[in-house]
Amino acid sequence: MKRGIVEVGLGVSLAAVVVLATLKIFGLALAAGAPDLHLKGIPAPPGSPFKMLYSGYQFRNATTRAMQDDDFSNPGMLAIDPATAEWNHVEGTAGKSCASCHHDVNKTMHGVGATFPKWNARLKRPVTLEQQINICRTHYMGAKPWAFKSDNLTNMTTLIRYESRGMPVKVATDGPVTPWYNKGKKLYYTRIGQLDMSCANCHEKYYGHHMRADLLSQGQINDFPTYREKAQHLVPVEQRFIGCMKNVRARPYKPFSDEFMELELYLASRGNGLNVETPGVRN
Ligand code: HEC
Ligand code: HEC
Repeated sequence: MKRGIVEVGLGVSLAAVVVLATLKIFGLALAAGAPDLHLKGIPAPPGSPFKMLYSGYQFRNATTRAMQDDDFSNPGMLAIDPATAEWNHVEGTAGKSCASCHHDVNKTMHGVGATFPKWNARLKRPVTLEQQINICRTHYMGAKPWAFKSDNLTNMTTLIRYESRGMPVKVATDGPVTPWYNKGKKLYYTRIGQLDMSCANCHEKYYGHHMRADLLSQGQINDFPTYREKAQHLVPVEQRFIGCMKNVRARPYKPFSDEFMELELYLASRGNGLNVETPGVRN
């Protein structure tokens, strides 16, 4: 806090002091300079608020990273078999499975997960991968949509993203998606909740600093769905957004809402160039 007090003396805005005080509640350790971390990143694209992009993987400890690296110890890999069975499972009034139209998931879904959220020409709006899966279920299969956080939806999302593992995230922000991207960007920088903080207050300004026992990352989403050791299950990206919103005592947006789609679109594109890591492992 010393730094905050010194800055007041130098005439820094009250808002900045409030943020610093709030971060102190969270036990954020403010170091004077950039923390001395040995992160491996990639140069950020032009227009990025960052100089370098770092996957959240870089901020986790060696045990967590090793768990992600080894397919036999990565619990997220347990999603792949049931999702593959579901891919071939005929369901709904049209008498079809995913495979009836999309055939071999290893071939047709290669690279697809790296591009979401993306424009859906028929609906004339961008959709998240979870939304696209449910659109196919309801519109093309005549089946019920899968619920938010259900094993079926999270496993299928994991399978499709896994088909892009190691490929760079490549989310388009030009053309018709631009207005939605701009809305997502605005949401990212808007202060919310009783603690009056934006996503950027933690993930842009203080990544690399400790918050309680946790090391703050850039809040990238190239690892989602990600296995969380704390929760002991795979967590879809919107569930992580909900967790961060609750931490600043904000009321989270609704699952599958426009707000979450816009936020995901903005965040995913901020990580363009990072490799898809699904299924990631985080603490
Ligand atoms: C009757 C055919 C049909 C079935 C069955 C079907 N889909 Fe689709 N799917 C489509 C069409 C057509 C599109 C193009 C986008 C649209 O119209 O919404 C699509 C798009 C997709 C995409 C995006 C592809 C891309 O390149 O962007 C994914 C992912 C997907 N479907 C997953 C699934 C899953 C998972 C299932 C099973 C739960 C499924 N689909 C069942 C017809 C189908
Ligand atoms: C009070 C600080 C704080 C705020 C504000 C905050 N987060 Fe987080 N967030 C965390 C912490 C702590 C973690 C866990 C460590 C990490 O990966 O940064 C986390 C993790 C994440 C992750 C997971 C990263 C990964 O690699 O899996 C995402 C995504 C994320 N936050 C998004 C957001 C979004 C979107 C917002 C705004 C709605 C937000 N956060 C606001 C503290 C914050």
